[in-house]
Amino acid sequence: MEDKMKVPLFDLTRQYEKLRKNVLKKLDAVFTSGNVVMGSNVKALEEEIAKYINVKYAIGVANGSDALRISVQAIGIKEGDYVITTPYTFFATASAILLNGATPIFVDVEDKYYNLDLDKVEDLLENHPKKEKIKAIIPVHLFGKTVDLERLERIRENYNIKIIEDAAQSIGSVWHFKNGERKFSGSIGDLGIFSFFPTKNLGGYGDGGMVVTNNADLADRIRKLRVHGAAKKYYHDEVGYNSRLDEVQAAILRIKLNNLDEYIDKRIKKAKNYEELFELHNLNEDLSYPAYFNDRTHVYHQYVVTLNNPKDRDKLKKFLENKGVGTSIYYPLGLHLQKCFENLGYKEGDFPVAENASKSTLALPMFPELTKKELEYVVKSIKEFFSK
Ligand SMILES: Cc1ncc(COP(=O)(O)O)c(C=O)c1O
Repeated sequence: MEDKMKVPLFDLTRQYEKLRKNVLKKLDAVFTSGNVVMGSNVKALEEEIAKYINVKYAIGVANGSDALRISVQAIGIKEGDYVITTPYTFFATASAILLNGATPIFVDVEDKYYNLDLDKVEDLLENHPKKEKIKAIIPVHLFGKTVDLERLERIRENYNIKIIEDAAQSIGSVWHFKNGERKFSGSIGDLGIFSFFPTKNLGGYGDGGMVVTNNADLADRIRKLRVHGAAKKYYHDEVGYNSRLDEVQAAILRIKLNNLDEYIDKRIKKAKNYEELFELHNLNEDLSYPAYFNDRTHVYHQYVVTLNNPKDRDKLKKFLENKGVGTSIYYPLGLHLQKCFENLGYKEGDFPVAENASKSTLALPMFPELTKKELEYVVKSIKEFFSK
């Protein structure tokens, strides 16, 4: 084995080297204009994102968590309502429901694919004792792979239920419909949300988020909610938030949006490299690489493998750490088992697929600038672990 290398899970600095000149130029223009919050860059970014994912309206907000919270309020969810979502996601997906006084109903995820199991969702919509109180579904396109958008559209129509797509991790991923159409994750729900946290595929240099929709009334309401519920300054129709997107982030995100397809392409190639090397080193008995299918894209926001024996996971993580390889666990404890959700009454064993995922998955280094040599080092280190 070659000398020890340092391979980070994610590295923003390499990308900055390439963007530096342009970023500094655009930032200088922002600062020179003196207009630093919700100015021309935010407006342009909103238009560009709307065009990119093919929706009518996009509204910039302060972060993805706010985008969710505001969306839940905008579609009219309130105390006493139930909202279906997954327990295997980032915290903000569920807290957005509770912060609006409603109750999340967790539904288990699909084996290996880890997105909301839509069979189970439909079962619940048919058979839940209080099914008339279920007002919305928040599916999450986890790690960058798309939930079945075609089926989601059908569920929305059949059950007359609202859908907020949590596309925080999946900007740019598409679903190929049977009629030949391609639709982007985030574009088919009543509302879709994105996060521009720096580690995201389209990430700023600070926080940022966006809500997208084809519904003009919802777009208006979200525009109000992000500025304390005021359509006209200092005249408040309802209680909202301070959730503005700033010009610095919007200017940077516009530069990166131009490169997004290239970044995604590079991530997909790295995923392919991982897969080939796992096969070359006969690692398929020890771990499974992320599931993907031809009718949709996986944009690999995270590259998450599943250890066939969950007992290996923490040991492998430690081993890789000693080798200088950055890894992470998304997510070590299902939301249904979080202390702050105790009163919802869930217990261990309620969602076996999600619980097993929490115990057996590991995110490996993934970012567009990851080199072949680094990737090979990661896989050889994993091989070394399993050869001991
Ligand atoms: C699935 C999911 N939803 C929501 C969010 C919240 O986004 P933000 O960090 O921009 O608030 C994240 C961020 O990690 C996420 O991964």
